[in-house]
Amino acid sequence: MKKRRPDGSLAVFPGSFDPITNGHLDIVDRGLAVFDRVRMAILMNPEKQPLFTVEERVAIIREAYRGNPRVEVDTFSGLLVDYAEKVGASVIIRGLRDAGDFDYEMQMAGMNAAMVPDVETVFLASSPETRYIAASFVRQIAAMGGDVTSFVPAKVAAALKRKFSA
Ligand code: PNS
Repeated sequence: MKKRRPDGSLAVFPGSFDPITNGHLDIVDRGLAVFDRVRMAILMNPEKQPLFTVEERVAIIREAYRGNPRVEVDTFSGLLVDYAEKVGASVIIRGLRDAGDFDYEMQMAGMNAAMVPDVETVFLASSPETRYIAASFVRQIAAMGGDVTSFVPAKVAAALKRKFSA
């Protein structure tokens, strides 16, 4: 039998967040309903060429959650389970939008659990209003001059506009 979650529970919400979307905000909200603190952990991935630098993504998330001490932001490299153990998080949260997510996420959760059984992955179902949003499409639409204001926070839409008008 696993130990009961102690008060002060911390859930790590890992991702690329390039950029943060309304779908991510929805998952953070859901995470806060279950856990005391949610830490958004941005993967520093040398294999990917992101649109926003890690520093820009940290700043965007800080701004989105300014005044909410229950949402933290951090960066990590290497294995997610190692990071979760290092920061004392017993839970990883991930959002599920559809069956495509399900297959990929189940595989990842299974491999993470095989490596570190004490870190539990908890899936949170995306809201119907945000379940179609994908950061990759947001980037594509913004790059082609489309309107992304209903997919991302206003500050992110402005940052995307600046990126593509530079
Ligand atoms: O937002 P994303 O790109 O879907 O997030 C993917 C992420 C960061 C959760 C995943 O790539 C990850 O955890 N990478 C860290 C390396 C790792 O632990 N790999 C083993 C996964 S089984």
